[in-house]
Amino acid sequence: MNITSAADGIYRLSANAEDILFEGLWPIPNGVSMNSYIVQGEKTAIIDGVCGWDGVPQTLFSQFEQAGIDVNSIDYVVINHMEPDHSGWLEDFRKIRPDFTIVTSKKAVPMLESFYGIHNRVIEVGDGDSLDLGAGRVLAFAEIPNVHWPETIATFDTLSGTLFSCDAFGSFGAISDAPYDDQLSAEQIEFFEAEAVRYYANIVAAFSTPVKKAIEKCGTLPIRIVAPGHGIVWRRDPHKIINDYRRYAEYQKGPARDEVTLIWGSMYGMTEKAVGPAVEAMEAEGVKVHVHRVPESSWGDILASVWTSTGVVLAMPTYEYKMFPPMAAVLDELGKKRVQNRKAFRFGSYGWSGGAQKELDEIMERLKMKWEFLEPLEFKGSPDEDHLTEIRSRCRELAREVKKIAAASPV
Ligand code: FEO
Repeated sequence: MNITSAADGIYRLSANAEDILFEGLWPIPNGVSMNSYIVQGEKTAIIDGVCGWDGVPQTLFSQFEQAGIDVNSIDYVVINHMEPDHSGWLEDFRKIRPDFTIVTSKKAVPMLESFYGIHNRVIEVGDGDSLDLGAGRVLAFAEIPNVHWPETIATFDTLSGTLFSCDAFGSFGAISDAPYDDQLSAEQIEFFEAEAVRYYANIVAAFSTPVKKAIEKCGTLPIRIVAPGHGIVWRRDPHKIINDYRRYAEYQKGPARDEVTLIWGSMYGMTEKAVGPAVEAMEAEGVKVHVHRVPESSWGDILASVWTSTGVVLAMPTYEYKMFPPMAAVLDELGKKRVQNRKAFRFGSYGWSGGAQKELDEIMERLKMKWEFLEPLEFKGSPDEDHLTEIRSRCRELAREVKKIAAASPV
């Protein structure tokens, strides 16, 4: 990947990370980009680093040379966020440039010490503070706590109108040498929209209220470019990704899109017999249905499609007097991300005793999910024709409800 110019005096450096689990947890089948930005006035700052994963800092350092930027000219390192995918290169960077000044938030200071043993040459900044780089270039700072950690700030270059937003407005997806929205086709933009939803649902979702506050705060700035820590840079239409994020934040408490996510698991194929008819019934009502089998599907993919869905269908058997365990694990994760107010329906098989419903009720209550369920349908062993007819009927009812709710509250 090459270093590129985002605006006059601003360069984007980036490395793609692939074949890893993001945060050690989330599959990223299409990779992710780790972006840094060099901002030049009379003095030079680099905003955000990249992770210390093998080879990644070296990729970044080679881009300094490409652009003819002497690493010794870097005066400031602005750390918007301490998560190591942004700060993890500091130790490597110190080996090639030992005497720079770090600019970061007050809450990040003790983290610098505990993560990397750094405690000197640090300037604390917060709301209303700025850093004059000279030549008319002033960086202004805004606290955006919990987007994604409590210490996070955003940096705004007042000269070019560039918002360095860190995790906010980011997306998954590795990037080629065309990292700007004005270089991409409609299909490529669509790809990054889908990657943004999955990134949002996996990484930022639990903090949707802080996201809304951050959008409100940053909305007062004259933004001309959005330059996030992950994903493409938005300079043709910077407000598109801001508006997308506003919508994603609203999806948390619902309603979302006129879509249904069906999550299913089956031990010996009995519950599975009803899955196809359920999907067909909902599709016949004209709603988009996302289908995921547990435990095979990744939590990341399930979260992303439930996030955009107004309706959810759960299909699983009872297992040892409780719910099929991988379904319980997924629901627990959905609850922790505070996916609330979905319209839902559950069906499934049992052998000699039920129990799935009791655990489902417990999860919904404990995590305050407020999902509104149609009457569940359980069958002993395999579903017969009457069961399938009833399942089709309830799925059609759910799909109609979803369409009605989504149409009444378009987001
Ligand atoms: Fe991209 Fe919260 O780290």
